[in-house]
Amino acid sequence: MAKVVILTGAGISAESGIRTFRASDGLWEEHRIMDVATPEGFARDPALVHRFYNARRAAARAAQPNPAHVALAELEADPGHEVLVVTQNVDDLHERAGSQNVIHMHGSLFGALCHACDHRWPAPEAMQPQDTCPGCGRKATRPDIVWFNEMPYQMDRIIRELEAADLFVSIGTSGNVYPAAGFVQDAAMCGVETLELNLDPSAGSTMFDTSRQGPASVLVPQWVRERLGSR
Ligand code: APR
Repeated sequence: MAKVVILTGAGISAESGIRTFRASDGLWEEHRIMDVATPEGFARDPALVHRFYNARRAAARAAQPNPAHVALAELEADPGHEVLVVTQNVDDLHERAGSQNVIHMHGSLFGALCHACDHRWPAPEAMQPQDTCPGCGRKATRPDIVWFNEMPYQMDRIIRELEAADLFVSIGTSGNVYPAAGFVQDAAMCGVETLELNLDPSAGSTMFDTSRQGPASVLVPQWVRERLGSR
């Protein structure tokens, strides 16, 4: 049984019509990170932040998984592989493609969180500042998204799984944001083989044993066929 940990980023959902962050038409070209992706920005203008995530939630709902998402679900279903997908993405395209073993380290567009009592519940289509928490009743609701200066989810489990893996694969991420950008070094230090599948070389490309460039919808099914063919 081959143990494979797969990190995904915005690039794997790009061909499903979901915008990435740092491309020339990326989200961060139009929105200031400080305004929409920090706790301080949320405190300053919650209506602006809710509008930003409401629009992203609607875009994710309208999107469909692409062949890269589907291929990873096929690999997970293979009895010769134990696959864990660690995604930085807040869309649900991995699950809609059939992946079961998925960690959303940066949260999810489809979750709501109360920053007063930490209660969590499914997010309504559109969130507003005046929404109240179903748990404590206070107007302290926010999207269940991990913002900059906040700790990503399930880091202990992620590092444990990474260090015990046979193979670490990184798909569609630019390698600019830590701690995810450091996973390749963590893996390499534990003798885990590392592979990158990305449209362009990422900031950490040279740290991978192998790096292939191309669109995820082509590279990922190709790589999965190789894996399944090699059994
Ligand atoms: N196929 C494969 N890779 C692609 C494709 C594609 N079709 N399109 C773009 N890419 C690659 C780009 O080359 C780039 O390296 O995906 C990467 C996207 O990079 P970013 O926009 O920086 O997104 P990501 O790495 O996921 O950002 C990490 O930063 O903004 C925060 O919290 C946010 O989770 C996000 C984190």
